[in-house]
Order: sequence, then C-alpha cells, then structure tokens
Amino acid sequence: MDLIKRPRRLRTSEAVRRLVRETSVSVDDLIYPLFIVEGNGIKNEIPSMPGVYHLSIDNMLKELEEISKLGIPGVLLFGIPDEKDEIGSGAYDSDGIIQRALRAAKKEFPGLLLIADVCLCEYTSHGHCGVINDGRVLNDPSVELVVKTALSYAQAGADIVAPSDMMDGRIIAIRQALDQNGLTDKIIMAYSAKYASSFYGPFRDAAHSKPAFGDRKTYQMDYCNLNEALREVALDIEEGADIVMVKPALAYLDVINEVGRRFDVPVAAYNVSGEYSMIKAAVMNGWIDERGAVMESVTAIKRAGAKIIITYFAKQIAEWIG
Ligand code: PBG
Repeated sequence: MDLIKRPRRLRTSEAVRRLVRETSVSVDDLIYPLFIVEGNGIKNEIPSMPGVYHLSIDNMLKELEEISKLGIPGVLLFGIPDEKDEIGSGAYDSDGIIQRALRAAKKEFPGLLLIADVCLCEYTSHGHCGVINDGRVLNDPSVELVVKTALSYAQAGADIVAPSDMMDGRIIAIRQALDQNGLTDKIIMAYSAKYASSFYGPFRDAAHSKPAFGDRKTYQMDYCNLNEALREVALDIEEGADIVMVKPALAYLDVINEVGRRFDVPVAAYNVSGEYSMIKAAVMNGWIDERGAVMESVTAIKRAGAKIIITYFAKQIAEWIG
C-alpha cells in the first residue's frame, strides 16, 4: 500500500497525541454543587448520589477548605430548609439557610466564587418552582419571589446568582433589583435552556423537591426543542444575563454546541444528578472505569462548547488532573 495520508501517524505516541489534542478540561472550568442543611455536625450521604452529602454549615466550611485547596474556582449552593410553606418564604428569609451559609463562606473563603441557585422548589411545600393557584404555577407572582430571593442571596455575599426557576422575565427583573440596590457587579448565570428532564431524579431526592402533583413541563422546556432553547438564551442575554446555561449536559450536547456558536457569552453546562448517578452505579457494579468515563463525559461537554462545567465529579476531576 502506498498511502500518503495516514491519520494514525498523529496517534502513535502519548507525546504526539498530547501535542495535537484539541480539547482539554481544566480545573478552572469546574463548579462543584453543595447541598446545605440545618443543624450541626451533619454529613449524610445522599443514597441516590454516592459520594455527595447533605452538609450543615460547619461541615460545609470544611468542604470549602478542600475545594479551595484543589483549586476549584467556585461552588453552587442549594439549601434544604427544615420548614417549607406554600410560597417558599424560606428562600428569601434574610436568616435562611443559604443566607447564613453565604455569610459564613464569604467570611472564611473570600476568594472562592459563591454561586447561589435561585429557586423556590426546595422551599415550597408542594415542590413547584413558583406560586400555585388552582393547580397552575403563576409566572409573575413567582418572579417577584424569585427576585426577592436573588437579591437576598446577593446581599448575603453571593458573587453569582443562578436562577433555575424558568419563569419568563426573571432575568431583567433580577438585574433591575440588583442595580437598584447598588449591586451592579453581581453576576447572573441564567439557567436559560433548562429542560424538563428525568435526569434530575436523584437531585429531587437530595433536595426533597419532587413536585407533590403534576410535573414541571409548563415551565421547564420540552426536550424535543432546540430553536426554543436559542430563543430562551437570546432573551436571557437581552435581559442582562452574563453567563447562560444549558441543563442537563450529556443528552444536550447539540444544544450546548449551537448556543456556543451563536452567542458570545460564556456557556455553562450542568452535568446533572442523574448523569452523575448513572456513572456511579455502573462503577459500583464494576461495569465501567470511573476515571475514563468521567473524563470522556466532561471533555465531550467542553468540546461541545461549554466553558463552565457544573459537576458533582468536580473534586474527583481536580484530584485526577490538578
Ligand atoms: C431547582 C433545580 C433542580 C436542579 C437544579 N436546580 C431541580 C429541578 O428543576 O427539579 C437539578 C440539578 C441536578 O439534577 O443535579 N429548580
């Protein structure tokens, strides 16, 4: 055979593979999600998410120490309150679980980026992301509470607020509230293309936020749609989002790619709980190599066009590549 073109030449050694490699995940790209609960000394493993814990604020601080040492730039905080009500008032209580967690974290780790997930579902008795009337999730009254929550987190020390409720118009409303309160430097990372997904199952166990009736399909997106994601992203950028997010990640690489090509703001992808738990379950059964499967997955998310990857594997990845 007299071949001139032999693509295999560029795969002959690890050195040349490194040289021509097109994508690499860096610790700089990672965000680690944390679940914060009331109490003291609590570190309880979430059954459907092996290796992920419910942490009380004291243990969160220990965790932040490790995360800082690993060089991970930031954490995404979710609060699980003891008490829930119809309107999720715990979310915007100035002494709520996340507000206290933020104040403690900011004081001890001023260099770590604190991102607060902004949503009502962990705080409402019915588990929906907004206010209910007659079995429907109302948009505008929900936005009002989401804005109060975002403002309260920003005032408590969040560097980034990340609204995940998918109500219409919440980004502009949050931006105006932040500006009116002199918080012009606070970053909004919008969950712009958030799909109604079965892959959130383990998170809802972790956050006790499974809807008590119905589903989230009237506010989260239909997974059949790509153009709708582009419209959502365009709106959020117009309304003042600094970073836009696609969620979940692995089943939506096409969406990440299209958003990355069309818009010039940083794109984040959320490698969600179900995506984490599937790999963990296979690893625990000895069916799959963990490091290989995780690195392949997060590299694919980066290759698709995400700059920021939110993943429960962040600490493990930082240990492997750091
Ligand atoms: C809150 C929220 C959810 C997730 C992030 N923010 C759950 C949901 O929408 O039901 C899911 C995260 C994950 O699955 O890891 N609205």
